[in-house]
Amino acid sequence: MAAALTLNQSTIGKKAIMAVTGIVLYGFVIVHMIGNLKIFEGPEGFNAYSHFLRVVGEPALPAGTILWVIRIVLLLSVILHVTAAIQLTRIDNAGRPIAYKKVKRKQASFASLTLRWGGVTIFFFVIYHLLHFTVGTALPGFIEGDPYHNVITGFSSQVWAAPVYIVAVAALGTHLYHGVWSAMQTLGINTRRTEKLFRGIAVLSGVGLFAGFATVPIVVLLGILK
Ligand code: HEM
Repeated sequence: MAAALTLNQSTIGKKAIMAVTGIVLYGFVIVHMIGNLKIFEGPEGFNAYSHFLRVVGEPALPAGTILWVIRIVLLLSVILHVTAAIQLTRIDNAGRPIAYKKVKRKQASFASLTLRWGGVTIFFFVIYHLLHFTVGTALPGFIEGDPYHNVITGFSSQVWAAPVYIVAVAALGTHLYHGVWSAMQTLGINTRRTEKLFRGIAVLSGVGLFAGFATVPIVVLLGILK
């Protein structure tokens, strides 16, 4: 009984860690998505935004300090989010030595399966993405400090890049939809009365994010941005 209680308590603790770190990561992707749309302002506007991220806080703080603080917070959030997800999956599997028959908890299993595989897809995408647009090793002709050039070159000269990004941000949208929904259950803010409203918010978060991110590779592919 006591063991079950501890397990339960720690499960709730881990879900809370997932929810809180998920909110931090969610905040980042929203800001990043809005920042990406600055590409419509042209090279000056887009590159100025990137430059601002590197010098913000100067002269009180050395250049890059704020950027590194953001990077460390993001990295810690990813580590905690992924660790808690792996632990929760283990607890979940340990709790059912004999797998459920297909008919049981169909909906919940589908949601957790897409959450897990979506999470894995996003993880590998972010590694590729950093090599592509931040480090530049995955982008021939990468120019440090010229993200406008890098984005246009990336999506127009590498045919696979835009589809990879579109699939990844679709996985991100789905992940956010299920994640927002599941966080609402964990934090206990969802009730029968508010269910429709909250589901609407979850759907909008996923679709909005997908649309905002997918716009950039699509407009470059269509030759609207050059
Ligand atoms: C079509 C979608 C996307 C585009 C066009 C895009 C574009 C970019 C560009 C140009 C940079 C480099 C910025 C700079 O050097 O100032 C960057 C950095 C980054 N992006 Fe994205 N991004 C996209 C989607 C995503 C997604 C979905 C995620 C996360 C799930 C993400 C996470 C990051 C991270 C972590 C960085 C590194 C920031 C840093 O430490 O300097 N991006 N992105």
